[in-house]
Amino acid sequence: MKKNFFTNSMNLAKEICKIKLSRGDIVVDATAGNGNDTVFLAELVGEDGKVYSFDVQKSALEKTKEKLKEKNMKHFVQLILDGHENLDKYVKEDIQLIMFNLGYLPNGARNITTKGETTVIAVKKALQILKENGIVILVIYHGHEEGKEEKILLKEFTSSLNQKQYNVINLSFTNQINNPPELICIEKRL
Ligand SMILES: C[S@@+](CC[C@H](N)C(=O)[O-])C[C@H]1O[C@@H](n2cnc3c(N)ncnc32)[C@H](O)[C@@H]1O
Repeated sequence: MKKNFFTNSMNLAKEICKIKLSRGDIVVDATAGNGNDTVFLAELVGEDGKVYSFDVQKSALEKTKEKLKEKNMKHFVQLILDGHENLDKYVKEDIQLIMFNLGYLPNGARNITTKGETTVIAVKKALQILKENGIVILVIYHGHEEGKEEKILLKEFTSSLNQKQYNVINLSFTNQINNPPELICIEKRL
């Protein structure tokens, strides 16, 4: 079935994951939330791979765990109840991809949201363990105060990365209303 490609940042992020990932890859979901992205990544890397999945909310990780159980995927996904800014404490291997689906849970507490300063720390740490040709994906919801600030800090940091080491793109849906999420990707050059 034919379908549009440039629909929104999250769909595009998923298409990029499909291109970039192979079975056996090691990846990180930096914001587990309801577990949809964790399951999506786990399906792509398979049980020969590994997914590290972070969230600061216990309830989010419980929902994620349930979804993984239903799909028999629990054994190769590590759920971590901690901020992604501490990822270096848990992830000791080099990774192929890290996904940040930022902001707050759509039906959850709005005050439990990602924050620019800690997101930038996490991205810096992710770059330290990113494999060549690996990718950092950031889906940025900037329609709320914290998100506005987060977008500014992420743009500032990512646009300052050395172009000899990283390819960086920033995609925005310029004709859509209501602050559609933006996409930033950082690809480590070969
Ligand atoms: C937009 S939701 C993620 C949606 C999710 N990927 C899914 O598939 O449902 C953002 C999540 O980030 C979490 N979060 C906020 N600050 C965080 C931090 N410092 N480290 C890790 N997760 C954080 C929130 O608790 C929330 O669940």
